[in-house]
Amino acid sequence: MSVVQLDQLVREVHDDLLADPRGPRVVERVSRYARAHVDWREFAFFDPAAYTRNLVYKDELFEMILLCWDVGQVTPIHNHQGQRCWMGVLDGRVEETLYAFPDPRSSPPTAKNSKQHARGAVAFITDEIALHRIAQVGSARAVSLHLYSRPIPRCSVYDPTTGAIAERQLAYHSVRGVRLESTTSAS
Ligand code: SIN
Repeated sequence: MSVVQLDQLVREVHDDLLADPRGPRVVERVSRYARAHVDWREFAFFDPAAYTRNLVYKDELFEMILLCWDVGQVTPIHNHQGQRCWMGVLDGRVEETLYAFPDPRSSPPTAKNSKQHARGAVAFITDEIALHRIAQVGSARAVSLHLYSRPIPRCSVYDPTTGAIAERQLAYHSVRGVRLESTTSAS
């Protein structure tokens, strides 16, 4: 397995976040990697049932996960547990829709705006910005690289119709290119 460039990105991001938790260079680094390299393919697994979360790297500072999207797959509307989240598109296209936090808390979240992202684009979100939902768009599968600092083993998901909030354990489909027998919790 040869993931030299991806592991180089891991080291750079680690050093960046250690120096400044806001990660001022992360967008630039992920975008450069996304445009130039394809060694992430070693870690890409798809599943017709749902988008997959494939762990590249995790320590106490951040986790890096490859998300693989078959046509039509989508996340629920969710928060980020107070952590920072960067999403870089490696292949295909995804659409990110931002939602205002429900007010009152039990009402359905309201969509604010949507934006499509293609290879090389990097989006950033925190709970201060919004909730979001990500969906694959177009006729080709998509792959995106997600960085959470700090790692988030679970998040809250919001029902778009009723506003009901539920806790969701975030699981991995594979770890370092090895598919797991059954999906494991991210904690
Ligand atoms: C996930 O990690 O499963 C959702 C994608 C995201 O919020 O970046």
